[in-house]
Amino acid sequence: MENCPVTNSLYEGDSLRLMTEWSDACIDHCIVDPPYNMSKKKGLGWAYSSHVTMSEDWDQYSREGYLEFTRTWLKQVARVVRPNGNIFIFGTYHNIYDIGSVIEEMGLRVVNSIVWFKPNAQPNITCRMLTESTEYAIWACNGTEKKAKNWIFNYEVAKRLNGGKQMRNMWAIPYTSKKEKQFGKENKGFRQEEKGFKGDEDFRKRMFANAPKKDENHIIAESKKW
Ligand SMILES: C[S@@+](CC[C@H](N)C(=O)[O-])C[C@H]1O[C@@H](n2cnc3c(N)ncnc32)[C@H](O)[C@@H]1O
Repeated sequence: MENCPVTNSLYEGDSLRLMTEWSDACIDHCIVDPPYNMSKKKGLGWAYSSHVTMSEDWDQYSREGYLEFTRTWLKQVARVVRPNGNIFIFGTYHNIYDIGSVIEEMGLRVVNSIVWFKPNAQPNITCRMLTESTEYAIWACNGTEKKAKNWIFNYEVAKRLNGGKQMRNMWAIPYTSKKEKQFGKENKGFRQEEKGFKGDEDFRKRMFANAPKKDENHIIAESKKW
């Protein structure tokens, strides 16, 4: 019997376990924002500052452990997404090359890599390196290099969004402001256009407010309690 996830729903739990319960090819497209494996045991900090950013248990893997984790979820994603569906995966330099190598192993067709430039990125306080101001997204088609075809790309919509010019693979979108974070966490390249939401709305509503098109069917899987 088919077991497809209910659309416009938030599934709370381990997405690896959730996906194993879903039927093959039951999802059109998938956006993945996986752990970046950038946390350090004592947090990601600086010698000259007490400020500590990332120290999350779900974000700490050995190199081999991260590759294995990536293989596991990407195999499930490729199974539950229909053939030739789009798969977008976000990352930073910490993890995007590992993810890229797993995509290569699996032989999936990479359509584009996208650079998300954040013009308002925080300055680098060490002054010993360039200011990190980018994230990346890999756009893969759920098919092998040879078999991938007819993936969906709304060329005209992308062009319109880009002021009438062909959209390039470099998106300059500011980092989510504190004000905007009340509507959801990261915008991952999709700006919050709906200003009517208040912070006391339920999480589902806020998360779907950040989805690319609210009138379409979305499913979100997240392990954290909210
Ligand atoms: C890079 S963050 C993405 C944050 C998200 N895009 C947002 O704006 O809130 C990775 C997220 O994956 C979640 N996560 C980690 N392991 C997971 C798993 N096995 N199943 C579902 N979610 C998981 C973490 O709780 C974390 O929120």
